[in-house]
Formats: sequence, C-alpha cells, structure tokens
Amino acid sequence: MKIYKAGIIGCGQIAGGYNANCQLGESLTHACSYNQIDQVELIAACDPDLSKRKAFAKKWKISNVFSDTTEMLNKMDLDIVSICSPTEYHIDAFKDIAKTKTVKGIFCEKPLAYDLQEAYDILNISKKYTVSVNYFRRWNPKLKQLCNDLKENTYGKLIYIKASYTKGLKVNGSHLIDILYSFLGMPVDVRTYHIYDSINNDPGVDFSLTFAAEIEATFQHIPNVPYVSSDIEFFTEKGKVSMIQRGQKIEWFKSIVDEDYNRTFQKLQFVSSEETDWTDCPTRALVELLEAISNGGNISCTPEDGIRVCEICEKIINY
Ligand SMILES: NC(=O)c1ccc[n+]([C@@H]2O[C@H](COP(=O)([O-])OP(=O)(O)OC[C@H]3O[C@@H](n4cnc5c(N)ncnc54)[C@H](O)[C@@H]3O)[C@@H](O)[C@H]2O)c1
Repeated sequence: MKIYKAGIIGCGQIAGGYNANCQLGESLTHACSYNQIDQVELIAACDPDLSKRKAFAKKWKISNVFSDTTEMLNKMDLDIVSICSPTEYHIDAFKDIAKTKTVKGIFCEKPLAYDLQEAYDILNISKKYTVSVNYFRRWNPKLKQLCNDLKENTYGKLIYIKASYTKGLKVNGSHLIDILYSFLGMPVDVRTYHIYDSINNDPGVDFSLTFAAEIEATFQHIPNVPYVSSDIEFFTEKGKVSMIQRGQKIEWFKSIVDEDYNRTFQKLQFVSSEETDWTDCPTRALVELLEAISNGGNISCTPEDGIRVCEICEKIINY
C-alpha cells in the first residue's frame, strides 16, 4: 500500500485545535483525520507564528515544522496538502503549491476566498490537482440523506426554507448556502434585505434565495450573540424537517388536524429527532480524496462548488 505524505498550511483551530484529543471516529480537524487514516502520514506543517507551530508540532508529534510554506513544500515532497491558513491567504497557498512538483491532492478550507477573482484564480490552479473544499456537512451521511429525501419529495413537496446563522455571511452563512445549493442547484433570484456592520469585512446579511420550482429560502443573520448557531427549517406540504445545532441534529414534525381547536386547522406535531454523523466528516472527506487521487473517484465538494457559493455570496453583498 502506498503511504501518502501530507502537510498542513496553517496550524490553527481547523488544522488541529478543535480536537482536544483525537479519538477514533471523532475527528473534527485535518490533523486528527490524517492520524486516523493508515494510507497517509502527516509529516509536516507550517505557520508563520512560532508559538502556534511549536504547539502544533508537539500535540500532533510532527518533527518537520516550518515558518514558510515554500520551504515546507520544497523540502518535504508532499503528496497531499491541507490549506488551513486564514481565508485571505488561501490564494497564496495555491500559488506556492503550483510551483512544486509532487503534490497531487489538496484539501482546502472554506470559503475558497473572500475575493471572487481570487476564487477564480484558485479554480484555475486547481485544474492540475484533485481538490476538495471543506464544506464538511457534505460528508455527513445523514444530512446527505436528508437533502436527497427533500429533493425526492419524500416528506411531501418542499415549499419554503427558513435559515438562520450567526457570524459573517462568508465564514458561516456560506455553509448553509452550500447545503441548499448542493441539492437545489444555483438560485434563480437573490434579494438582500439588510447588511449588518462588520469589523472583519465579512458582515452578517439578511437575504433570500429563490430556487427553481419557486422554492424560496430566507436567511436571517443573528447579530451580537457570543455563540455559533446555524439552523435550517424545511417546510413541506406534509410537515417540517429542521436541521438544528449546526447540523448535529435533525427533527421531524408532521402536519395533523388540531383536535383542541375543533378540527378547524392543522398544526405541526413533533415526530422524532436524530443525531447526525457530525463528527469525522474531515476523515470521510480525506478518504474520498485519497480514493480520487488513486482511482479517480468523485469529490463531494469540488472547487467548482466552492466557486458557486462564492458567486452567490457576491450577488448577496452587491445586491
Ligand atoms: N470547515 C469549517 O467548518 C471551518 C471551521 C473553522 C475554520 N474554517 C476555515 O479554516 C481557515 C482557518 O480558520 P481557523 O479558524 O483554523 O483559523 P486560526 O486563526 O485558528 O488558524 C489559522 C492559522 O494560520 C496561521 N497563518 C496565518 N497566516 C498564514 C500564512 N500566510 N500561511 C500559513 N499559515 C498562516 C495563523 O498563524 C494561525 O495559526 C479559514 O479559511 C476558515 O474559514 C473552516
């Protein structure tokens, strides 16, 4: 079995910080997922911040750490690279990788870029590689099943979608946009209602997207709260399905006749709830990436998908 050599650019939270420890099946980070796959060995990492890369090297037992991406790429002959640097530096990482010879696969964090032209430049470079973009819910089998079921009208015809999110449109809202885009395609109309003040160039926005078959989705930004929240309610002709707790749980409600009100109208009744497979998404994504590199399999979230989400965000901001 060929053992692929992997390296990580940027030693922060999504690179390894979110995993206090790395139990089998509970990966939330790139480093933990590399540790869980026999076919790949995480041999290097780089970060301009000395304390970050030192702590990362110690935690993940990596002996080759660098301050500079080019130096890591030149010295380590990597097969796979994870791009976990801040979003505004993703383009630099792609340009650095493009100067090297050994890299075959790239696992890039989302969003691809804040700037749409940079995202197109990334797409252009990506054509030489097998690239996956970490909209991680794409590798959550129960959420994937939910999207398929909604597409197939398993819960009755999908009528309306209501979503809410904290933090910025591109950092957090884009996850929800990607979920809807993954099974409804590109929206046919975009409307923006309110853009909140932002200190980091990624404001929260209230907006709506209209998809084919006149399915409308409204998105509400929740400002000024200290926690992260992302929920979607799917209203169908037979009831409602809610993706709650950032996709960690799904709840089903069905429409029933309201006996308390003399059967004059219908109401929603809770049916059941289920935990989704929200841990280990990066591991499933990497296994898929390795399979695609070795045997040409499909990628669940490609740079083209990442671009479509950037394009939707751009339309929302420039409405
Ligand atoms: N998929 C997800 O759900 C998810 C979750 C969190 C973050 N992210 C994405 O991951 C990326 C990183 O986010 P984070 O929360 O881990 O940030 P972070 O600030 O915790 O980590 C970023 C690290 O990159 C380092 N860095 C800065 N400039 C660099 C450069 N030019 N080259 C290499 N390293 C550099 C920083 O020193 C820092 O250690 C962002 O694109 C973010 O949107 C995705």
